[in-house]
Amino acid sequence: MNRLENKIALVTGGSRGIGAGIVKRLAAEGAKVAFTYAQSAGAAKTLVAEVIQAGGHALAIQADSHSPEDIHKAVALTVETFHGIDILVNNAGVYNANHIEHFTLEEYESSMAVNVRAVFVASQAAAQHMTNGGRIITIGSNMADRVTDAGGALYAMSKSALIGLNKGIARDLGAQGITVNLVQPGPIDTDMNPANAPHAAGLTQRMAIAHYGTPAHIAGLVAYLASDESSFITGTAITIDGGYNI
Ligand SMILES: NC(=O)c1ccc[n+]([C@@H]2O[C@H](COP(=O)([O-])OP(=O)(O)OC[C@H]3O[C@@H](n4cnc5c(N)ncnc54)[C@H](OP(=O)(O)O)[C@@H]3O)[C@@H](O)[C@H]2O)c1
Repeated sequence: MNRLENKIALVTGGSRGIGAGIVKRLAAEGAKVAFTYAQSAGAAKTLVAEVIQAGGHALAIQADSHSPEDIHKAVALTVETFHGIDILVNNAGVYNANHIEHFTLEEYESSMAVNVRAVFVASQAAAQHMTNGGRIITIGSNMADRVTDAGGALYAMSKSALIGLNKGIARDLGAQGITVNLVQPGPIDTDMNPANAPHAAGLTQRMAIAHYGTPAHIAGLVAYLASDESSFITGTAITIDGGYNI
């Protein structure tokens, strides 16, 4: 399928895990894809080579989502290199787990900067370049709706903030023909949440489909939301978690 032919995308946190899956899928569907990374320069380089080898277009940008300046530069470089931006995927995220009595304010600031402020800043910057048919897609978490284990307060708070942000931006941009949606994954096999981790069995036993998902599962939904087929869906949060939260 070439649903995204002539589209230009920026994916934050695209070097590994879910973000890398999204980069590959959007490129395979015809989009020119820029993506950011913070530290994994080697993985980013390998991913660009993989996309180009498959006949696609990709650009890796070192940009730390803690920094609004870096995010602005990433949007500007995407626009400069590929001549526009049609699709923004806010994917970069961090998971800080701790008991509420032990979190530091630094952990709070860092989680909120990457998981929430960066989404606000990137959406604001990218929207200025988007025209009719533009797409903003943010990766939240099913923990925005349900926290089943101790230690998740900070992460759940950051991801539930995205629900309000998503709805508000959707209201602002609807008249311009830009849709804005939130994707809320459950357990997905990545470095952040490996399927072979000690806690994994405890998660899968609560799922209707009792196994971890893959980055490709999330990428398939993101590609649909990025395409013209989803033009009447906006302001919504779609949970994709194998039935964990039901
Ligand atoms: N895996 C799950 O079970 C799961 C479930 C629900 C939601 N999610 C959400 O899905 C998204 C992706 O998660 P993942 O599992 O793929 O995580 P991951 O395996 O840890 O990969 C994180 C990606 O984000 C990038 N990143 C992290 N901090 C960054 C920063 N400060 N600036 C720029 N990029 C940064 C990383 O870049 P570097 O390689 O340079 O570090 C990497 O590409 C996150 O928003 C996460 O909260 C994941």
